[in-house]
Parts: sequence; C-alpha cells; structure tokens
Amino acid sequence: MIHARIAGTGSYLPGEPVTNDDLVARGVDTSDEWITTRTGIRARHFAESGVTASELALVAARRAIESAGREAGDIDLVIVATSTPDYIFPSTATLVQAGLGIRNGGAAFDVQAVCCGFVYGMAIAEKFIASGSHRRALVIGAEVFSRILDWTDRSTCVLFGDGAGAVVLEASSAPGVRATALHADGSNHSILCVPGNVADGKVIGDPFLRMDGQAVFKFAVKALGDVAREVTDIAGVPHESVDWLVPHQANIRIIQSTARRLGLPMDKVVTTVDRHGNTSAASIPVALDCAVRAGQIHAGQRVVIEGVGGGFTWGAALIDF
Ligand code: ACO
Repeated sequence: MIHARIAGTGSYLPGEPVTNDDLVARGVDTSDEWITTRTGIRARHFAESGVTASELALVAARRAIESAGREAGDIDLVIVATSTPDYIFPSTATLVQAGLGIRNGGAAFDVQAVCCGFVYGMAIAEKFIASGSHRRALVIGAEVFSRILDWTDRSTCVLFGDGAGAVVLEASSAPGVRATALHADGSNHSILCVPGNVADGKVIGDPFLRMDGQAVFKFAVKALGDVAREVTDIAGVPHESVDWLVPHQANIRIIQSTARRLGLPMDKVVTTVDRHGNTSAASIPVALDCAVRAGQIHAGQRVVIEGVGGGFTWGAALIDF
C-alpha cells in the first residue's frame, strides 16, 4: 500500500505585522480592546499593493521544498488552495509551477473551498499519491484577502490577513495521512461570501467579503468539533492519542470551543491567530509550519488539521508525522 507523508513545510507572511492600533491609525472605527476580546487577533500581515497570491505561494513553496530536501523538479503535482487567485485563469498553481521552473511537469490546479481549501487540497493529494499516479505533491494555501476587504466594514476588515503556507507530501511505505473527511453544505452559502463577479469588462455585484458573524461562529464550532472526531474514528485511534490539533485560525474563541468539545487542553492546540489573523486557506499550513519550525510538532507525533470555510465547506485530516 502506498502512503502519503509530509516531507517538508514552509510559509511566508509579507511585510511587517499590522497591529490593531495600526488599523485604528488607518481610520478603521475599532479598538484593540474590541478586536482582542472578540477574536484574539493582535496583528496580521498585508501584502503590498500589486503583490499576488502566486508570489506569496512561491516563497512558501520554495521553503517547503528546501525543508523536504528536494528540488522543484521532483514535484509532479501542484495544488494551490486559494479564493484570491491572481487571475480568473490560468490557475495560480500553474503560475507557481512556472515560477519554480518546472517544465512539462505533472498536474497543477487550484482548489476553491475558501478557508477549508488546504484540507481539501491535502485530501486530494493524498488520494493521487495513494493511487500511484503521482509521487510528490506540493500542497499550498495562499491568500491576499486584503484585496477583498471592505475597509468601511469594521465587522470584517479587522479579521483577515495575507500569507501562504505549503507542504511537500510524498509517497512512502510508512503511514502519514491516515484519514481525511471532507464535507460541504451549499445551502449556507450566503452567510459568508464575496457575491461579485466580472462580466462584460465590469464588476457585477459586490466584490467584497460579506459575513453574518454570529451564524458563522455557530456553524464553525459545531462543524470543527464533529469533523475532528470523525477523522479519529475513521483512523480507529482514540482522540487522546492526538498530540497536536492545528485548526483553521479564524478566531480564538472558535478554537477554544472546538478544543473543549474534543476534550483537548489548549497546550495541544497550535494557535497563530493572534499574530496572523485569519489568512483563509493559508492559515492551516502557516500554523503547521510555525509549529514545526518552533520544534513543537516533530517526527513520531500525531496531528489533526481541520478547517471550515465559506460554502459552507469543512473537513479534517489525521496525519502521523
Ligand atoms: N470594532 C468595534 N466594534 C465593532 C466591530 C469592530 N471591529 N465590529 C463590530 N462592532 C460592533 C457592532 O457594530 C455591534 O455594535 P452595536 O451593538 O452597537 O450594534 C457590536 O460590535 C456587536 O457586534 P456583533 O456582530 O454582534 O459582534 P459579535 O460579538 O458577534 O462578534 C465577530 C463579531 C467577532 C465577527 C463574531 O461574530 C465572530 O467571531 N464570528 C465568527 C466569524 C469568523 O471568524 N469569520 C471568519 C471567516 S469564517 C471562517 O474562517 C470559518
């Protein structure tokens, strides 16, 4: 049986941290006290004007390939999870592939599952590798959410940031990704969306992120609690055997509620939301890379990653490092 193991991780956050007080100084009608109490967010990063998701992705990808001890030419599958692609087409994944100098490579495509996109990408890559069709995948989450924020809507613009994270997932005889679970319920699409489009050379509809915060909160806590249990059940391992939970980094209160539902103490939960805000599809791989580089997550440990995002989409993966 062919397994898929994580061989390397990388991430990239553009520029200097932008604090809550910096947002106030830029004219957002908010306060550090409101944002930290409601969300746990203290800072986030924003890409400079004109910088694209593929540019952030490329830096994270190079770092992941280096940490795996591989070269770009070893990669035969590139998956980029993003809701803020460079273009309508071509895909961000093909731009990353070109940036890495891969010519006549394997498959490259984007996945659109918003904040759960990286989990979807990992599940897809695991299946490609387990089937024997591909041997080494680069799975990336990359976002420039600052491009779709309405700076006059204080209930959303304080929550998000830009960034990219990546992993190299490769074929192995030893187990790595042991279980995945993916879900969607499109009936909830209107509680979190960017309901605009481009047609006839114009923006049609609303090009900014819109959210019913309380509805999202309720949905996220239940979905994340359920799906983490689902992957431990599929893998046939006790919840207590999980060394680290790496949840989507949307809001510290959502993360704490999820940990409580799983009976996991917070010292087993990776949190970066305080420093990075919500970077959507990038949040899980960035948090994973931070924990690996900080020496928290290491070989021999069991990790659950899980996400929930617009659509709604949600999912998890149980991974032995
Ligand atoms: N600064 C100051 N005041 C604010 C701000 C702000 N940035 N934003 C809203 N307010 C005010 C509102 O105007 C309102 O004032 P009012 O009572 O005078 O009308 C008051 O704060 C309360 O507003 P609510 O929306 O009820 O605040 P709530 O306690 O629900 O917190 C929040 C809002 C933080 C967005 C919360 O609902 C939440 O965390 N939801 C989850 C959303 C999330 O994490 N989304 C991320 C994307 S989804 C994902 O990644 C899964």
